[in-house]
Amino acid sequence: MSSVNEKKVAALEAVKYIKSGMTIGLGTGSTVFFLIEAIGKMVLKGLKIKTVATSVETEKLAKSLGITVITLAEAKRLNITIDGADEVDDHFQLIKGGGGALLREKIVAHNTDFNIIIADSSKRVSQLGQFKLPLETIPFATQLILKELQEMGFRPVQRKKGNDDYKTDEKNDIIDVDIWGVDIKLTELEHMLKNIPGIVETGLFLTSTDLVIIGKGEQAITEKKI
Ligand code: A5P
Repeated sequence: MSSVNEKKVAALEAVKYIKSGMTIGLGTGSTVFFLIEAIGKMVLKGLKIKTVATSVETEKLAKSLGITVITLAEAKRLNITIDGADEVDDHFQLIKGGGGALLREKIVAHNTDFNIIIADSSKRVSQLGQFKLPLETIPFATQLILKELQEMGFRPVQRKKGNDDYKTDEKNDIIDVDIWGVDIKLTELEHMLKNIPGIVETGLFLTSTDLVIIGKGEQAITEKKI
């Protein structure tokens, strides 16, 4: 079965956690696309929810399907958030940000009671780092951060869109860093990176995830945090 179908399988399992009256965080990406599509159908059938979007793309899609989108400030706290990931390891640690929405995604996850990750089976790994780690950086500092990361022994690459620098919804830059085989604990790596002024956020989501739903073939495999 293709990864596209596995994404849909995972998304359709995740909507079972949504109940009327909830405030839901909506992630970003091609897996979450299927989630939003399914929620749109549930809303048409009478589901009453409010949502907070983690990107402009998600907000547009949700609104186009008749889903109510409010601001994080209005929501204050979210019951559940459902989001995708670029990698998920055995300890529910994630790399996110392949689609560039890591900053809002991390803020929304932090303000949520129960975080669900949905993904196709290719995203489930035993060790993070085959996927390059995205860092969101302030444009004023991006070139110096690239140099500093190089001096630290990383191989950072600024993300591009065509000939232009890629820009996030917050008009920041993204630097993708190869962390495969880096001999340092992920918590220390996160701390080290966040200590560099101008790095606004990293795509390492180390503690926020409560439940992982993986689409594998026709099946949805649910893994709960122990
Ligand atoms: C968005 O920036 C990301 O964090 C996505 O959640 C992640 O890249 C997964 O995207 P897909 O579902 O498109 O693979």
